[in-house]
Amino acid sequence: MRKPLIAGNWKMYKTPRESLAFLEKFLPLVEGHTRDEIALFPTMSSLGYVLEATEGTNVRAGAQTMHWLNEGPYTGQTSPTMLASINCTHVLLGHSERRIYANETDDMVNWKLKAAIGHNLVPIVCVGETMDKRQSGLTEAVLRWQIANALNGVEREGSEKLIIAYEPVWAIGTGSTATPTVVSEAHRIIRREVAERLGQERADATRIIYGGSVKPENASQLMAQPEIDGALVGGGSLDAETFARIVKYSA
Ligand code: G3P
Repeated sequence: MRKPLIAGNWKMYKTPRESLAFLEKFLPLVEGHTRDEIALFPTMSSLGYVLEATEGTNVRAGAQTMHWLNEGPYTGQTSPTMLASINCTHVLLGHSERRIYANETDDMVNWKLKAAIGHNLVPIVCVGETMDKRQSGLTEAVLRWQIANALNGVEREGSEKLIIAYEPVWAIGTGSTATPTVVSEAHRIIRREVAERLGQERADATRIIYGGSVKPENASQLMAQPEIDGALVGGGSLDAETFARIVKYSA
């Protein structure tokens, strides 16, 4: 039984003050909600505040990225040790915006995943094809390649917390959500690849969540698919009431 995860990726939005104002509205709206896990991914400047304000609640918080090393002369970076030291539990890895704008490679995603596992963080590895690749019939090849590289050298033991987010690049921030059929097919490809790397049992237990223009209007249809174990929400997570409706799959 895979417990769904509904996660909000705030990207480069919200100051600490705005983050806390969101929580003031959001926490009461989802209080007592246990059907799904709920997590928020604020900017690094807000993360400490959000972690403190969500302590003891049913909402977790994580970082949008991290470095794979524990410390060093890497201006602008945050390490897994630093995240663990502020009781941060989750981390997004390899989001397409990191791959595109910060030149994050498959190798880096792999190093980061191993570092996250080593620090007992919940890693959410993001994969997804561009429209160009989809139109060229390369969706399966891209997904298998990204998963195979991310999991290179990752052992079954220790990968219990792994979560994969399928985020087709063409559906991110565009308003055009992938259909439940398209998402389910992609999730099946991903699960098969995870099974090849980590065994069927681990693959069956691994949550695969979907991201790309998830809104209150399409959440219930997506979440009704047995292959979809949750959502990674960008724009739809910025407003407390809207995100609470997504968490509850209520249009
Ligand atoms: O990580 C979430 C994401 O990239 C989807 O963004 O705005 O299409 O929900 P959005």
